[in-house]
Amino acid sequence: MKKFYLTTPIYYVNDKPHIGHAYTTIAADVIARYYRAKNKPVMFLTGTDEHGKKVAEAAEKNKTTPQQFVDDISGHFKSAWQKLNISNDYFIRTTDVNHVQVVNKVLRQLFKAGLIYKSNYEGLYCVSCEEFKTDKDLVDGLCAIHKTKPEKIKEECYFLKVSKYQSQLQELITKGDLEISPQTRKNEIISFLKNEKLTDVAISRQKEKVDWGISLPFDKNYTTYVWVDALLNYLTATNWPDKDFDQVWPPDLQLMAKDILRIHSTVWPAIILGLGLKLPKKIFAHGFFTINGHKMSKSLNNVVDPVKLADEYGADVVRYFLLREFTFGHDGDFNLERFAERYNADLANDLGNLVQRILSLAKNNQIQTIPDKTKTLTEVEKDLENLKFKDALDRIWEFVVTANQEIELAEPWKLAKTEPVKFAKFIGEMVVKISLIANSLAPFMPKTSAQILKQIKTQEIEPIFPKK
Ligand code: MSP
Repeated sequence: MKKFYLTTPIYYVNDKPHIGHAYTTIAADVIARYYRAKNKPVMFLTGTDEHGKKVAEAAEKNKTTPQQFVDDISGHFKSAWQKLNISNDYFIRTTDVNHVQVVNKVLRQLFKAGLIYKSNYEGLYCVSCEEFKTDKDLVDGLCAIHKTKPEKIKEECYFLKVSKYQSQLQELITKGDLEISPQTRKNEIISFLKNEKLTDVAISRQKEKVDWGISLPFDKNYTTYVWVDALLNYLTATNWPDKDFDQVWPPDLQLMAKDILRIHSTVWPAIILGLGLKLPKKIFAHGFFTINGHKMSKSLNNVVDPVKLADEYGADVVRYFLLREFTFGHDGDFNLERFAERYNADLANDLGNLVQRILSLAKNNQIQTIPDKTKTLTEVEKDLENLKFKDALDRIWEFVVTANQEIELAEPWKLAKTEPVKFAKFIGEMVVKISLIANSLAPFMPKTSAQILKQIKTQEIEPIFPKK
């Protein structure tokens, strides 16, 4: 059976992972866990983007070699994902030998097919974006995102004939053969393809200027442009071109934020079409979040470290907060006070109390409780299939809050003495509800879900979310 192939961007290793990287990766993990629980085989890929000038410059700043630097930072990403309970099946690094081989193979094939040609490039380049820029992308001569002056580049270059695919891409995306989601993002891409000229993309940098990269297989004076190198990671992980690669290919869902959607909707499918492969089924671009209203940046010293948060609160709390607080697909603002508020209100009070109250009552009155591991809330499944993480969690919490209200109303602590049969029945019903909640929460909060089910079974009750 073909696997459900799910990818995140591969992150630059110029710095350690932050909460923005964690957001996409956690969302992908929830989807991976959801499909696995439904017995669908999954291939969940994440990894690190390790070549190019930005990374080389960061290594130099840290007075180390690029290789040592990328080994170190890539390790930070791996351990952050372990800490956050990310269940990726593959962690790719663009410095992996098999990846370098795939990049070579792809470039040779595209070259042979006449899709790569040599010409002159004259223009601007932002190292922080690792992107060629046109005047339209600048504000007062500076990169609109990084507020830095882009470099002027004038060099002979190899180009990929992306322009050739303009009308084909427009049609494929409009028809939904290559699905771009949410709709607003799809509209943006279609309007871009309709109104602006898709230009051929420079796929090389002169080695004397950027030597930390993969050599072009047909001209050793050049390294491969980091974005072309990076996009091919999605192919490397499938064992392309071995014959079993279609057990994985094409990607079913590629997650990212809006910052890199355009390149994933133009250059990436152009490469795939050039290779004669099937296109990804769906690309989803979520929003960007700011920190207390500001862009997250080192200079503002407001970078939120997901590992530190997980150390303090536990991985599940970070996972929960990010997906409950923001509507997937929209921009949002991350705020540590909100984080603490949600911890106390939603987790310690609503969910924690529900479990503790019922299980303590059961235990004190010697009523056996058995978890039901089979059922989940069906609407939550639908939400997950539509990537509506917040709706799913809102729904689960509505259920939690209603269950707590039912307890208030039924006053089971009184029933225990006066109507033991009714009491036992009530506890039984509540345990079914708590099991349903735990099962529905499993992809979001795997540890909490398992803990709840275990406590139902053993009645060894401990607060899952101690008050802070
Ligand atoms: N290396 C490229 C991607 C290559 S994929 C073939 C890159 N790396 S990155 O480290 O800059 O990661 C960008 C991605 O990180 C975004 O698309 C998003 O998934 C995540 N985010 C980074 N900052 C974020 C926010 N502030 N908010 C939400 N997501 C964020 O681009």
